[in-house]
Amino acid sequence: MKEINGDKGNCDENGSEEDKGSDWGKSLPVPSVQELVRNDPQSVPEKYIKGDEDETRKLDLACKHWGFFQIINHGVAEEVLLNMKAAVAAFFELPLQEKNKYVQAGTDFQGYGQQYVVSEEQKLDWCDMMFLITLPPEIRNLKYWPHTIPGFKDAVQRYSEGAQKVADEICDNISLLMGIDRDGLKRFYGRTKQAMRMNYYPPCSRPDLVLGINPHSDPDIITLLLQDDEIPGLQIRHKNKWILVKPIRNAIVVNVGDVLEILSNGVYKSVEHRAITNETKARVSLATIKIPYDELEIGPMECMVDDHWLRMYRSIKYLDYVRQLLQLSLNIHEYMQAGN
Ligand code: SIN
Ligand code: FE2
Repeated sequence: MKEINGDKGNCDENGSEEDKGSDWGKSLPVPSVQELVRNDPQSVPEKYIKGDEDETRKLDLACKHWGFFQIINHGVAEEVLLNMKAAVAAFFELPLQEKNKYVQAGTDFQGYGQQYVVSEEQKLDWCDMMFLITLPPEIRNLKYWPHTIPGFKDAVQRYSEGAQKVADEICDNISLLMGIDRDGLKRFYGRTKQAMRMNYYPPCSRPDLVLGINPHSDPDIITLLLQDDEIPGLQIRHKNKWILVKPIRNAIVVNVGDVLEILSNGVYKSVEHRAITNETKARVSLATIKIPYDELEIGPMECMVDDHWLRMYRSIKYLDYVRQLLQLSLNIHEYMQAGN
């Protein structure tokens, strides 16, 4: 397995550092930069361009130690982001009886409502949400798509495509970091679905008493979050502290999901996060999640297991994984109810 920063305790990276040193010393002398510029003042040879390795290393470190990072220059046009945010805001501004036309029906988790309501006594999130499956287009259930908002469908369509490209690009790079080819990761998970969770956190007179979203990790491959440009709320757990993710205008917050943690055999971390509320301003966010199909067997990829780094997870069908998560929250709830 390829190790970028070597904190997995593998022996490879020491060797490669030495090799690098000797290579540069012997067979690959560095040319005079002064001569280089004299010969061709316009050219900047590939070897001098710092970008990629730097970015790759940052991606590796972020996924290993934080599970989160923000990206700018992601290629999704500002107009697409603004239209998407406006569409989400427009939905929550609809009168209640209008929003109720899209309410979650039966066991379907799509639609307007709240997530994981497992019992009457459960502590709830200070948050309303709208959940839609967005890709591939043929599995959309348009009965949940608010059709009275002009431009809603178009905004989701365009952003979902942009977000898909960004997520795929990140996964391709993570695949390279895992020491396999660019397509290795997507060959493993195959076709995926995309869903969006639109969150609306009203102001709360006692923000100290509630949480917008209770601590959780995302049961997906990767999440792309658009958060409000002005109003912070997302906090991530790092070294047992809650760290606020300061909004950056037009940035996308990316986090590693549980599936990627499992596939990478624990090298990349699906980190717990939560949302807090404030006293005066409503906050809106949009999480776009990349999920495998139900039947995918998720387990550590072969390239991530060796004599030094043993298999950390057993394989499980994705659908069963999600079912067990729900069951777990039910059990925890019952345990708390029993006075523990
Ligand atoms: C989420 O975890 O789905 C949303 C977090 C946020 O609103 O910042
Ligand atoms: Fe989340």
